[in-house]
Amino acid sequence: MLKPIHPVRKKLEVRSYYGLIHKGGTQWFHWENLTFPYSLLDLILKGLDISASGLKNALELRLARHTIFLPCLPDSFNDYKILLITDPHLDGNPGLGEQIHRLCSDISMDLIILGGDYHFRFTGNPNLAVTRLREMVGWLKHQAPVAAVLGNHDEYIFAQSLYTCGVEMLVNSHLKVTREGDSFYVVGVDDCHYYGTHDFDEAEAGIPGGACKILVCHSPELYKAASRRGYVLYLAGHTHGGQICLPGNIPLLKNARIPWKFASGTWRYRQLAGYTSSGAGCSGLQARFNCPPEIALLTLKQERRD
Ligand SMILES: [Fe+2]
Repeated sequence: MLKPIHPVRKKLEVRSYYGLIHKGGTQWFHWENLTFPYSLLDLILKGLDISASGLKNALELRLARHTIFLPCLPDSFNDYKILLITDPHLDGNPGLGEQIHRLCSDISMDLIILGGDYHFRFTGNPNLAVTRLREMVGWLKHQAPVAAVLGNHDEYIFAQSLYTCGVEMLVNSHLKVTREGDSFYVVGVDDCHYYGTHDFDEAEAGIPGGACKILVCHSPELYKAASRRGYVLYLAGHTHGGQICLPGNIPLLKNARIPWKFASGTWRYRQLAGYTSSGAGCSGLQARFNCPPEIALLTLKQERRD
């Protein structure tokens, strides 16, 4: 069942300059919600005559494969496969839904997780992104069950639309995954970066103590809380891996209050394993450098402690 919209989220979805400076998220000024920095960057890329190569890089979607070892994973989930798709920003990345479908159509997976940021810009009509998202989900759900969280770009209309497509919406709620009498929990919290409407207590209500829990949040910024609360895996996106990086995958910006090592790929914090996807699409403008777009196939394996 889809929960009603959080009152803070409802207030912030009324677009205004209040949204740039509200203090509910992880930073007090949300420059990423302005449009002029992207227009300026676009002009710079055109001035340097590298717009075309930036666009070409942005279209080279790849399938990243990783194995993640978890100590509490029950026997029957050894080799369980999660396909993580984050940051498609579908209205600003034409053809990406079809590209994702082609890339994963002949691989097997047990669960698909959509990590948020379906809308290209923070402002503007979301209808095109909603339409493309529904098309993409229509293809994906033939391969495996689909669960999703919302990102900092996403209005609640995305949750309502995904829910009517049969997607399990993890907006401060959880999904119990069972197999052969074993189980683990996929817990999803609402966006912490801009909306600040994440609620662990609500999301975990009913989960027994000591259960094996995986957290999905659009941004990796909750890694300390996740570790404190006993999660073993944290799946996120949001950073785009920097999107525009120096050679050697060195990001210029991460737009998140995290150490650089949590900005992309696999990471670890105390007992918590993490994966931050570089994202499938682009936001702001369709260009990437030294940071290829990706969807990620994550194979879970039981960590043996002999
Ligand atoms: Fe994003």
